[in-house]
Amino acid sequence: MAQIIDGKKISAEVKAGVAAEVAALKEKGVSVGLAVVIVGNNPASRVYVNNKKKACAACGIDSYEYALPEETTEEELLRLIDQLNHDSKVNGILVQLPVPKQIDDHKIIAAISPLKDVDAFTEGNVGKIMIGEYNFLPCTPAGCMDLIDSTGVSVDGKNCVVIGRSNIVGKPMAMLLLHRNGTVTICHSHTKNLREICSQADILVAAVGKAGFVTADMVKEGAVVIDVGMNRNAEGKLCGDVDFEAVEKKAGYITPVPGGVGPMTIATLMRNTLTAAKVQNDLLG
Ligand code: GUN
Repeated sequence: MAQIIDGKKISAEVKAGVAAEVAALKEKGVSVGLAVVIVGNNPASRVYVNNKKKACAACGIDSYEYALPEETTEEELLRLIDQLNHDSKVNGILVQLPVPKQIDDHKIIAAISPLKDVDAFTEGNVGKIMIGEYNFLPCTPAGCMDLIDSTGVSVDGKNCVVIGRSNIVGKPMAMLLLHRNGTVTICHSHTKNLREICSQADILVAAVGKAGFVTADMVKEGAVVIDVGMNRNAEGKLCGDVDFEAVEKKAGYITPVPGGVGPMTIATLMRNTLTAAKVQNDLLG
C-alpha cells in the first residue's frame, strides 16, 4: 500500500518559510505584492484565484485583484498589464489562464515584465528554466519536485515518465527532472506503447486532464506517482488523472487529489513572489 504524500502539509511548511521572510522584509520597510488578474467568469479560475489570494494573506503578501468582464478586449488587458509593470507596489503579476477567446494569451504573457513574471511563462524565463539558471520556478513542476523530494526517493538515474507535454506542466516538469539527472521520457497523445513505457517509471507524473487515465497496470510496483490532474468524474467529484484506489495498492508513494499538487502550485507562487520582491529591491543574496 502506497504512502500518501500530503501536499497540504508540505505547502503549509513552504508558506510558513515564505511568511517568515516576508515579515523580515517588512521590518526593513519592504512590502511584497502580487497582482492577480482574472478575466471572465470561468468558475474553476475563480476558485484558483480565491485560493491564491488566501495564500497571499497567509504569507503577509499584499494581493491586488483585477476582475475584468468576459468581454474585455486584448487592448484593455494589455493596458492593465503595462500599468502593473510600472506599479512599484506590485512585485508579481499573475494573469489567470485561460483568458476569453478574443484575447491572445501569447501576447498577454509576452507583455508581462520578466522581473514580475511569477508564473515563469515569458519566453526568457522559460529559456532560463531550459538552461537551469532561473529565479522563478515553474509553479506546478516545482511543487511536484518538492513532493517527490518529500519521499526521500532520489531522482538521480531513475526512469522518470511525464504524461503530458503542455508548456505549463509537462515540458518544464521534464526539464526539472532532467536537471536532477533523471532519465526522462515525455509521453503524449501520439505515444505508442504508453502502458509499457509508464510501467517502467520509477517516478510517474500524470498531467493529462482525464479522470482515471492512469490505471494500475501502467504503474511499476513501488513507484512514486504524482497526479497533476484536476478533473470532475461522472458524479461531479473532484479527481485526478490517476485511478487512485487501484494505483494506491501498487505504488510506493502517491499524491491525492485534492490535497496533493494543487496546494504546492500555490506555495511555489508565493515563493516566486517573494523572490520577485527581493530581485526588485536588490536583496537577492
Ligand atoms: N491556469 C491553470 N494553471 C495556471 C497557472 O499555473 N498559472 C496561471 N496564470 N494560470 C493557470
